[in-house]
Amino acid sequence: MNVIVTGASAGIGFELVRQLCQNPINRVIGIARNESRLAELQHLCPYNNMIALPFDLTQAIEGILLPEIYTHFTKTDVLINNAGYLQNKPFTALKPADWEHTFSVNLFSVVRLLKELYPGFARPGAHVVNIGSMGGYQGSPKFTGLSAYSASKAALASLTECLAEEWKHEGISVNCLALGAVQTEMFGKAFPQQQAQVSPRSIATFIAQFAQTGHHLFNGKVIPVSLSTP
Ligand SMILES: NC(=O)c1ccc[n+]([C@@H]2O[C@H](COP(=O)([O-])OP(=O)(O)OC[C@H]3O[C@@H](n4cnc5c(N)ncnc54)[C@H](OP(=O)(O)O)[C@@H]3O)[C@@H](O)[C@H]2O)c1
Repeated sequence: MNVIVTGASAGIGFELVRQLCQNPINRVIGIARNESRLAELQHLCPYNNMIALPFDLTQAIEGILLPEIYTHFTKTDVLINNAGYLQNKPFTALKPADWEHTFSVNLFSVVRLLKELYPGFARPGAHVVNIGSMGGYQGSPKFTGLSAYSASKAALASLTECLAEEWKHEGISVNCLALGAVQTEMFGKAFPQQQAQVSPRSIATFIAQFAQTGHHLFNGKVIPVSLSTP
C-alpha cells in the first residue's frame, strides 16, 4: 500500500511509520518539519520503504511538497492526517496568531492536502484517517486551556463526516479517530502532572491496522479511542 503519514517525526506518527514500514508491501511517505528525526526514522525501516519529506504543513503545498509526493506515488491508498499542534492557554490569553496557527496545523493543512491529493486517491479503496481528539468529540469532558485545540479537532471531525458523504460514490472513505490520552510530548503540554495509560506504540498498532482495513466497515465515522479521562 502507498501510505502518507503527517507528523511523522515524533510521538504517535513516528511509531506509526515505523510499524507500517515493517511490512515490505507498504511504501510510506512521512512528513514533518524535523529533518533529522525523519532521517532517524528511515534507519529504523529495514526494507528501505520510507520516504522522508521534510515540510512545514502550514505552508502552501503546490510548489514543493505535492510534486515530491507525486514523484513517489502515482496513487495514494491511505492518508493519515496525524500532524497536530496544541497550545495550553486560557481562552482570554489566546491571541489571534494562536488560533491561526492551531487551525493552520490541525485543520487547514488537512484541507490543503485533501484538495491536492484528491485526484491521486485510489478509486475504489482509498482511506483517509483523520487523527482527532476526545477534546473535539461532542459531549466529552472538556479541559481549561484547550479551547483552540479542541475547537480545531471538532472541526476536523465535522469535515470527516462531510467528505465521507461527498466522496462515498467514488470509493474514497474518510474516518476520524478521536484519541484519548497517549503518552507523548503533546500530552505533556496539555496535562503536565499526569501520566497517560496508552503508549505511542500501542495506539500506533491500532491506527495502522485501522488505516489498512477499517474502511471496509466504517465510513464517515468519528470513533472515540480512549481508555481514560483525560
Ligand atoms: N498524545 C495525546 O494524548 C493525543 C490525544 C488526542 C489526540 N492526539 C492527536 O494525535 C496526533 C499526534 O499527536 P502526538 O501526541 O504524537 O504529538 P507530538 O508528539 O507533539 O507530535 C506532533 C507531530 O506533528 C508534527 N507537526 C506539528 N506541526 C507541524 C507542522 N507545522 N508541519 C509539519 N508537521 C508538524 C510534529 O513534527 P515537527 O515538529 O517535526 O514538524 C510531530 O511529528 C495529533 O494530531 C494530536 O492532536 C494526541
